Amino acid sequence: MTATNDADALLDGFWPYRKTTESYRAVPAEPVDRAQLLHEIATMAQSEDAQGDAGHVSGSLYCGDHDHYAFLGEVFSLFSHANVLQRDMYPSATKFEAEIIAMTSSLLHGTGVGVVTSGGSESLITALYSYREQARERGVTQPNVVMPTTAHVALDKGAHWMNIEVRHAPLTDGYVADVSAMAELIDENTIALVGSAANYAHGLIDPIEEIAALAKEHGIGMHVDGCLGGWLLPWVERLGYDVPLWDFRVPGVTSISADTHKYGYALKGSSVLLYRSRELRKHQYFTYPGWPGGLYLSPGLAGSRSGGIIASTYAALLATGESGYLRAAEGIMSTATAIKEGIRARIPQLEVIGDPTFLVAFRAPEGSDLDIYLVNDSLKAQGWRMNSLQLPPALHFCITRPNTGDGLAERFLEALAAAVAYAEEHRGEPAQSGAMYGFGHTPQGHATLETVMSGVLDAMHDVAPEA
Ligand SMILES: Cc1ncc(COP(=O)(O)O)c(C=O)c1O
Repeated sequence: MTATNDADALLDGFWPYRKTTESYRAVPAEPVDRAQLLHEIATMAQSEDAQGDAGHVSGSLYCGDHDHYAFLGEVFSLFSHANVLQRDMYPSATKFEAEIIAMTSSLLHGTGVGVVTSGGSESLITALYSYREQARERGVTQPNVVMPTTAHVALDKGAHWMNIEVRHAPLTDGYVADVSAMAELIDENTIALVGSAANYAHGLIDPIEEIAALAKEHGIGMHVDGCLGGWLLPWVERLGYDVPLWDFRVPGVTSISADTHKYGYALKGSSVLLYRSRELRKHQYFTYPGWPGGLYLSPGLAGSRSGGIIASTYAALLATGESGYLRAAEGIMSTATAIKEGIRARIPQLEVIGDPTFLVAFRAPEGSDLDIYLVNDSLKAQGWRMNSLQLPPALHFCITRPNTGDGLAERFLEALAAAVAYAEEHRGEPAQSGAMYGFGHTPQGHATLETVMSGVLDAMHDVAPEA
């Protein structure tokens, strides 16, 4: 391939529609025909959904039932245009939102106090803000938060925005938060501790009871990131699986985030942030009685919000019901267990990280020269989309409803075994999916990667270059 072809292929990869659709750089002079628009957009949606619908994608798509999506779309459309900031016009939003919070709280043994946010990141960042403000009342002006390295990166983002120092504690050999290392990092400026149930990287539940006890001992709060597991683990526990206590039953847990747009099977754009007390929640409220625009009050980051997402989230929880959640959890756990046990029993070249529930992370064992990113190259070529991890290099398969089809675990294990054989045959060759990771582990590599990653973000906001 010539350099020009390489560049062309790269652009096509990033902007796959640049040669088949018009790229608009300004509003068209005349309206585009609705039927044509719908056809074009539906074509993109169908082709982009295909891999996930086949059950070959890790995480990301949690429900996979297009009837459910269509129903939620119908509900969404009833309120999509409504701005629920105007509660006098849309009191239904108060009902929907309060009941979403109540249902989430009852699942997690909470006190009924919470807010609905736009997603996991907003829930985490908002919690961090509340703890910062709580600590400000006792005079903390240089706040820090203590969390394991595996805590979700949205917390690092929020801390960066809000000038909060993040103190990362290492993991134990079992890949969960090292609580004694966390204890060492706490000082009088620590605003809160964080643990995950379960964490994104390895799907493991941190020792929440121990972290919460530590928080209590220091008179500070503890946030549990249940964004991923919050709407799944309670059902898994009810099915009789061994799930350690991690929710409000644990004294010392003062807030929990649980994403309805993940295992709650709602449309994208909703999460619940629960607090143990109204006092903690009030830190995120904003009221400004002196604004010329009127008396302004707002519970969180967003101003105008679409009523569609609140109504459809409400409908998702009700239309699934306990029996629906239990059935889904059963399928997820039997697939995850088959994959976890299958790797342990049949693929000795790989090691499952820790003892996960619904998300299985695996790596080449310490000392092995098997390149896990070569394994990923082959899985990709076979049509499977895993999530790549680093520190240590690993992959994970977060099992969701679309992955629970008959025989899927077996087909995946066969693909994985073939991928390991591929990696063994190509030992020493550079892996396509790992190039960037290797590069990042030196200070210069880090700086260069940051530049490249910012460039990618720029590109994500640019119209496709001319074909
Ligand atoms: C454990 C955990 N926390 C937080 C998040 C962030 O959620 P969101 O992508 O909805 O902002 C994720 C996303 O996967 C997650 O797995």
